[in-house]
Amino acid sequence: MNRAKKQPLILGIESSCDETAAAVIRGRELLSDEIASSAATQAKYGGVVPEIASRAHAEAVDEVVARALQSANVQKEELDAVAVTYGAGLLGALLVGLSFAKGFAYGLNIPLIGVDHIRGHLAAAYLEDITLEPPFLTLLASGGHTAILYAERADKFRVLGGTLDDAAGEAFDKVARVLGLPYPGGPHVEALAREGKPVVPMPKMLKGMGGYDFSYSGLKTAVINYVHTKEQRGEPWSRADVAASFQSAALDILVQKTIEGAHETGAKVVTAGGGVAANGYLREKLTKACAEAGFKLVLPIKKHCTDNAAMIASEGLVQYRLGHFSPMSLNAEASIPLRHSL
Ligand code: KG4
Ligand code: ZN
Repeated sequence: MNRAKKQPLILGIESSCDETAAAVIRGRELLSDEIASSAATQAKYGGVVPEIASRAHAEAVDEVVARALQSANVQKEELDAVAVTYGAGLLGALLVGLSFAKGFAYGLNIPLIGVDHIRGHLAAAYLEDITLEPPFLTLLASGGHTAILYAERADKFRVLGGTLDDAAGEAFDKVARVLGLPYPGGPHVEALAREGKPVVPMPKMLKGMGGYDFSYSGLKTAVINYVHTKEQRGEPWSRADVAASFQSAALDILVQKTIEGAHETGAKVVTAGGGVAANGYLREKLTKACAEAGFKLVLPIKKHCTDNAAMIASEGLVQYRLGHFSPMSLNAEASIPLRHSL
């Protein structure tokens, strides 16, 4: 077992929610990137049903991994390590991917690397630009977390600030529900917002003295109150305008705080990660703001913002290079506080 390879071949596996994903990288070069989703089945229930997700992973994981190896044109015996999400996420779902990865690594006598899902989202940018190195400023915006972070090293992040309550993705999902849109709400709100104008007044989101903290719960409540009041009074209102107004309120603050954070820390490079970073409005605004401020922006492709295995392999490479490997007793974690992830 050669643990010191410069460009190791790493298999990444992700199964924390409703996506069963597998990817192979050689160094930072992405060789394959496979995904199977139970989202269509889940959509009927208006959210992810944990047991359905677990069973779907159990059915799909072997085939998705086989596909990833095949499309990478790699024999499993050539692999140097298996990286797998161990948390946070749905326990049953995580255990399917984790147990599969353990068996795979054990059978091949190669190291197992347990990856924190959030660290995976942050490592997606390394695949987008293979020359990217810390320090850089990161906007993390997923279904569970929303924060502005400064990456001092690949394994050391400092939190500048973030949401004090709901995550951005969570707010999109809740607003989608109010607007009668299916789960997951983000892409549907984005599509509807394209047909509307941001003309509905939304509350200010900044909170606290830190300058980087904000709140989504007031914004969500404002949308709910607006819709209920209009309906009670029988007044006409535009779903598209509400979507556009919510979207710009929810995302403009992230762009603004990211740029402020880059100025304050002196970071010259900005990255982003997490499902909300797949939002076209956010991507456009961030691209423009970084260009105007003179920061280099490394924005992972949309597929690598939402859950995927390439980002897990990418963080696996970070851990591999640090010589951080996991014991076979590694367990799944349903929740990991952000400070432990960073
Ligand atoms: O990172 P992710 O795939 O899973 C977590 O680790 O949480 O993020 C999922 C979240 C969901 O709340 C989803 O609605 C949101 O990301 N999302 C979006 C978009 N695509 C996914 N939010 C806004 N616009 C999108 N296009
Ligand atoms: Zn995620």
